[in-house]
Amino acid sequence: MKKIIINGGRKLRGDISVSGMKNAALPIVFATILSGDECILENLPDVTDVALSLKILEDMGATVRTTGRNAVAVDTSRIGGDVSDSPLVGRLRASTYLLGALLGRFGEALVGFSGGCDFGVRPIDQHIKGFQALGAEVRIENGCNHAFCPHGGLHGGSVYLDIASVGATINVMLAAVTAAGKTTIDNAAREPHIVDLANFLNMCGARISGAGTSFIKITGVEKLHGCSYTIIPDMIEAGTYMVAAAATGGRVTVRGVIPKHMETVTAKLQEMGAGIDEKDDAITVSRSSRLTRANIKTYFYPGFPTDMHPQFGALLATAEGTSIITEGVFDNRFRYVDELAKMNADIKVEGRTATVIGRERLTGAPVKAVDLRAGAALIIAGLAAEGTTEISGVETIERGYDDIVGKLRGLGADIRMIECENEPEKETPDKAG
Ligand code: UD1
Repeated sequence: MKKIIINGGRKLRGDISVSGMKNAALPIVFATILSGDECILENLPDVTDVALSLKILEDMGATVRTTGRNAVAVDTSRIGGDVSDSPLVGRLRASTYLLGALLGRFGEALVGFSGGCDFGVRPIDQHIKGFQALGAEVRIENGCNHAFCPHGGLHGGSVYLDIASVGATINVMLAAVTAAGKTTIDNAAREPHIVDLANFLNMCGARISGAGTSFIKITGVEKLHGCSYTIIPDMIEAGTYMVAAAATGGRVTVRGVIPKHMETVTAKLQEMGAGIDEKDDAITVSRSSRLTRANIKTYFYPGFPTDMHPQFGALLATAEGTSIITEGVFDNRFRYVDELAKMNADIKVEGRTATVIGRERLTGAPVKAVDLRAGAALIIAGLAAEGTTEISGVETIERGYDDIVGKLRGLGADIRMIECENEPEKETPDKAG
């Protein structure tokens, strides 16, 4: 078992580079199935979720070759069938994308249930509704989702999503690119990774327009081909370092970002009193006095990202005044609160709302990363706190942060990773993936 040990109270200073975006890399890795050819993917983040997704493809018969730093060549020509029975499927939320990708390539998919962070209920009814509009049915069989086309192959269709779901938008796009005829997705998710996936698929020969808006149009093509593609920078990783800079004071320049993707985060930090200096592909965050309270309501892009909620929870816990956080996307994203409370944070949760009473100082404590962004919040709290914080559940953090310990050390943080004996589990085990 690994632990992260932080001696808090040091101001972060210096430059940091952002890695490729996990939530763009994952659908693009699975989308290579549709190309049936070799694709070169560059700027892949070195995180376990991406490594798992590549391993799942290998388990299905693909070859994956490292071609450089953060670059791989994925050849899916030898994937023989529509079944993914890899035991790794259950460790990733993104393995649901296998349904759309296999359905698109083979007209059928048999895929085990996906995993992912536990934020409450995470149904796939909108994915299924989309597949149905394209002529497919989905049944649960022997612990798997079985998608198939009872009346011939997939055809174009009109899909209206009840919720602007990232996963459903991606899955319908994957299934539709090689379906016969035109597909439209109304109330589509608008996140930057939707645009990145569309750009990748278009480079492979797909005909997708409107990605990044609520109305996506897809004209089915017979076949895709390989391409070479560079993944966009990770806005959530960038936001996490910006919040860490604000929490500890000092001055940090986050490089390799797309400032447009960061607008909600930079605006909120500014509102709280942090200094922001924006260049073409870099944002500098500084703080000279205590930050002040702010309210946050998470929502679908371009709203405030739910994946930045816990990190801001940690930041607001030390800001002056009382803040309200309203979670607008997931049922239960507040599992980090009990852990922050062990560090002297004063946060009360009722339903989807948290009231955060800012404390002058947090104090170090042994805590556990209960999900990916909750882990990031604990690191931020530990960097800002007095004393030593010991974080377990590090594997959860490594799912989505590329060398977070090394990057923070580069900014002057007193943080290290240690290997230690497994401790007997006292709490409910995490859901993996
Ligand atoms: C993705 C991200 C996750 C991020 C989330 C919202 C990946 C691998 N994960 O998750 O990090 O927090 O987007 O930005 O990219 N819903 C339904 N029915 C469905 C699908 C979704 O009710 O069929 C609901 C969910 O329960 C949730 C909301 O819609 O309340 C948003 O979910 P969705 O956008 O699909 O998130 P994910 O794709 O699971």
